[in-house]
Amino acid sequence: MNIVMVGTGYVGLASGLGFAKLGHRVVCVDIDASKIAKLELGEPTFFEPGVPETLKEMLEAGRIMFTTSLKDVVDEAQVVIIAVGTPPLPNGQADLSFVYKVAEDLGALLRHDCVVIVKSTVPVGTNRIVLEKIQRAMQEAGHDEATSRVRIGSVPEFLRPGYAMEDFFHPARIILGADDEETFSVLDRLHAGLEAPRVRMSIESAELTKYAANALLATKISFINEIANIADEVGADVREVAQGVGMDPRLGPHFLNAGIGFGGMCFPKDVSALHQIAGTKGYECKLLSAVIEVNSRQRERFLRKVEHDLNGFKGKRIALWGLAFKGGTDDVRGSISIDIAQRLAGRGADVYAFDPKAMDRAKAYLPENVKLCSTAVDACEGADALLVVTEWPEFREVSFEAVRERMIDPRIYDGRNLLTDLELEKKGFSYKGVGVCRPGRHS
Ligand code: UDX
Repeated sequence: MNIVMVGTGYVGLASGLGFAKLGHRVVCVDIDASKIAKLELGEPTFFEPGVPETLKEMLEAGRIMFTTSLKDVVDEAQVVIIAVGTPPLPNGQADLSFVYKVAEDLGALLRHDCVVIVKSTVPVGTNRIVLEKIQRAMQEAGHDEATSRVRIGSVPEFLRPGYAMEDFFHPARIILGADDEETFSVLDRLHAGLEAPRVRMSIESAELTKYAANALLATKISFINEIANIADEVGADVREVAQGVGMDPRLGPHFLNAGIGFGGMCFPKDVSALHQIAGTKGYECKLLSAVIEVNSRQRERFLRKVEHDLNGFKGKRIALWGLAFKGGTDDVRGSISIDIAQRLAGRGADVYAFDPKAMDRAKAYLPENVKLCSTAVDACEGADALLVVTEWPEFREVSFEAVRERMIDPRIYDGRNLLTDLELEKKGFSYKGVGVCRPGRHS
């Protein structure tokens, strides 16, 4: 099939490459000429495992192209996928202006049979508004007779940054939302070659499924963080509890890692958006309010523990491991680690930070008294405490003998329970995780 993908961010580029690899011909469109120029040369504009290799391969095979002109490519498209950004507005709602602009531009150009899919995460009901906007623009362009040829399909994405290509090729399920059999069969052909159960449903159900899935995962995290806080009080170990709980197949072992909470550009935004969607319909979703509240207080609880032990942050030197919102990505959007760096700096600490991939992207968000270091060990030079705030597996491989030698006070506060099993006390550290109690002592 001929696919036009509008937007070359994480979702647009990763899915565009995925569809090309499945055998479709994909043209990616972006208004940013510098991005398009780089992509044409085979250079991705962000770090994502598997993307550079697939980009090179698909460019060489002639199955992916890049352009800034929607007008030049839209006539050939059987499917147009909108994957432009929906950044949060100051009131927390998603800014849909880029999505709607694409809908209007498309409408002015379209006059043939085409299925339009919105991949950007948007509030329930947006797909239908997009279709209305396309059809209105078609009428304004004098193509009234063609409006019934354009149909809308909702196929929410579940790509995790860091695993975007893997998630594209091995999804747990593919959610297909449409109004009619004809559109469902186009969506089926689009995903041919992916071995995953397909679930057909209404457009509204598909839109809501995306939010419900992310909200339930976020709920699991806030739930286990509540248990961790209780574990701290009663002298239990949340990891043991999570293991015991997760072995019940009805509950499952995933997303039960306690820590400083969930960040990123999906969970915080999606949980708030779902809460707000319910609110606009007059329904107060108490569970989601609690999920959000637990998440925002978790980081402060962590910081208070350190602040108490150090007798305040003023003039203290803090080593900070991690700036990305999770391990395996250079993405810092919605990163709790960045928020923690800002809070530490705001309370007078001198912060020495290291992240294996995210330092370039983090720079713009960090105040002056947060210095970036070239290695994890360097960040510990003269430190009064080391805070581990992003779950990079690499941090487990660091020489803790070298860390111990560099620190003034060998205290480790592990906000991700990443190093819990390394027996750091035996290496001369005072170690505290989140809800992790060692036998005979409280964390
Ligand atoms: C998430 C969803 O998993 C994905 O399906 C969706 O499409 C996009 O949002 P992502 O935001 O990339 O993906 O990261 P994920 O691995 O889900 O982690 C989100 C946040 O929760 C991170 O900050 C992570 O550190 C935190 N987390 C995750 C926990 O604190 N505990 C856990 O057990 C799991």
